[in-house]
Amino acid sequence: MSYIIAEGLTKQYGSGDAAVRAAADISFQIEEGEFIGIMGESGSGKSTLLGMMGAMNAPTSGRFIVDDIDIYSLGQEQRADFRREFLGFIFQSFHLVSYLTVIENTMLPLAVVKAGRKQKREMAQDALRQVGLLEKAHRLPNEISGGEKERVAIARSVVNEPPVLLADEPTGNLDTKTSREIMELLKRLNQKGMTIVMVTHSPDCAGYAQRIMRLSDGKLVGDNSNIRSLDQWQRKERKKESLPDQNQAVAAGSLLDG
Ligand SMILES: Nc1ncnc2c1ncn2[C@@H]1O[C@H](COP(=O)(O)OP(=O)(O)OP(=O)(O)O)[C@@H](O)[C@H]1O
Ligand SMILES: [Mg+2]
Repeated sequence: MSYIIAEGLTKQYGSGDAAVRAAADISFQIEEGEFIGIMGESGSGKSTLLGMMGAMNAPTSGRFIVDDIDIYSLGQEQRADFRREFLGFIFQSFHLVSYLTVIENTMLPLAVVKAGRKQKREMAQDALRQVGLLEKAHRLPNEISGGEKERVAIARSVVNEPPVLLADEPTGNLDTKTSREIMELLKRLNQKGMTIVMVTHSPDCAGYAQRIMRLSDGKLVGDNSNIRSLDQWQRKERKKESLPDQNQAVAAGSLLDG
């Protein structure tokens, strides 16, 4: 049984003439440790799907199962527990708490973690170091830039190293260099075993995903191994080991199967 299973997820906002079908009968399975990119034009339903995957937006119909737990059959409180234990989020809007400093914002998910204050502070410092913001740990959100706010949001979402990270355009407001650093951070977390689902418009960012799902008008219209990253990977491997062609094909095949 797959780690994550979506079965016919459908979301309709409003009713009657005003009804919008933002997600239509979306089904897929995700294995533990995958890095998925979700792409599609504006309004195609990406955030809606991510919200349903984040136990925040109940589908009109369909089921969503994580680690054998049928998320929307849980009560409110259990679902909140599930969110805290399983999920990290990077939202399209950052939701930083304006009266808390950068490090206090970063420590928020640790409220429910059993660890001493000092250890939690160290975990938060480590996360801030990874996004390059340690020296601004004691500023308030209105004293840092938009891109820096985004990086705080990222530090906060990974500070407790949740098994699943859901990211809605994590680098949408960042310059190329910072974007790349953030993507490298996500890549490291993925290599340590974190399952990542990331919405992005950027082909560069999508290149980090192993598999791309494409949405159009609320429907899942594509779900493929990421050929581009496969190409990059092959090129890298070729450089490293100068593999003969046949071996490359075998290696690429096993990546596709895996
Ligand atoms: N709360 C809501 N009420 C009514 N309609 C909504 C609501 N949220 C989203 N929609 C509509 O559902 C559709 C999908 O929206 P969604 O936010 O999922 O798109 P998206 O792919 O994330 O777009 P973007 O790339 O612009 O963020 C759109 O037509 C949008 O207008
Ligand atoms: Mg969106």
